[in-house]
Amino acid sequence: MKELKKVSWRSPSNIALVKYWGKHGNQLPSNPSISFTLDQCYSETSLSISEKESKNSKDKGLELKFYFDKKENLAFRIKILSFFEGISKDFPFLSKYALSVNSTNSFPHSSGIASSASAMSALALCLVEMNSKLSGTKVKPDTDKLMKNASYYARIGSGSASRSIYPVASLWGAAHGVKGSSDEYAIPYEKQVNKVFKTYQNSILIASSAEKKVSSRVGHTLMKTNPFAKARYKQANENLTEVLDALKSGDLEKFGTITETEAMTLHALMMCSSPNFILMTPSTLAMIEKIKAFRESTKLPLYFTLDAGPNIHLLYPENIKSKVIPFIQADLSEHCENGKIIWDKVGKGPASIK
Ligand code: PMV
Repeated sequence: MKELKKVSWRSPSNIALVKYWGKHGNQLPSNPSISFTLDQCYSETSLSISEKESKNSKDKGLELKFYFDKKENLAFRIKILSFFEGISKDFPFLSKYALSVNSTNSFPHSSGIASSASAMSALALCLVEMNSKLSGTKVKPDTDKLMKNASYYARIGSGSASRSIYPVASLWGAAHGVKGSSDEYAIPYEKQVNKVFKTYQNSILIASSAEKKVSSRVGHTLMKTNPFAKARYKQANENLTEVLDALKSGDLEKFGTITETEAMTLHALMMCSSPNFILMTPSTLAMIEKIKAFRESTKLPLYFTLDAGPNIHLLYPENIKSKVIPFIQADLSEHCENGKIIWDKVGKGPASIK
């Protein structure tokens, strides 16, 4: 069938500084979170529409083909179909046309990097741009309204994806004292951030690329019965206030201390869920010990954070790069699976691809 319209977006992954872990309702967070937007880890996604082949198509009126790395992918298709079904009343074109989604990641699928934030944010950007094109409103791709809408729908696809919409840093969830913050979408946080963070480095040390034993979806659900949930949500709000302070002043020690505590808390919550689980590996722990010892002996502001997985995200300012890289190569790379490291940094946010 002839393609009628096509939109394409590149959108990055992000790394949370204060973590979102626990949700309620339709993908609403139990505490506010903030992240750095990454640069090198991104998805490129296109959405095209054509006339439907038959009027009585299956899938509740949705006709979708999904390609990952140019190959049809049925497992991803099922996930996207259920996402589209959930939002189809807001996007009438989804059931009117035959849809084709093509997606690729800049990082290997099995690298242990969560792809849902980049993938769902890229797809949400495609949805809102396509919708505005079809409605003839001619909204420019990067207007505030389009971005806010994209963040809203990215959130429905994957909570953390809501934050990938904005450059440098983004905050999601109603936060005390942060004007405009909302549980429904993320807001840009670049302007409030000290310039030292705009070129911050994020070296991702791949301890293991094996598929996670417990998904984030299950992890969020287990917070409902976690005996420490209430204390955690209180702590997350307090840590957010502290991190926002550090992001503004450029206090790297305060910034790093909180981000490490957030990482350890996230994993501690997993370890005391019922059933409990551990996503760190012996390599993760070995690297953490070495990072702490390096910081102690050099007094350099090298800190780490963790996602819901075993890989270490090293966070450090650009001006100590020449001292940190040799340390990573000499002492940490031996703990990485096949020596795998992704050299990322804070990035400029999504871009429409022409
Ligand atoms: O967006 P989800 O449902 O994959 O959850 C992400 C959870 C963490 O990555 C662990 C934390 C966060 O805030 O990104």
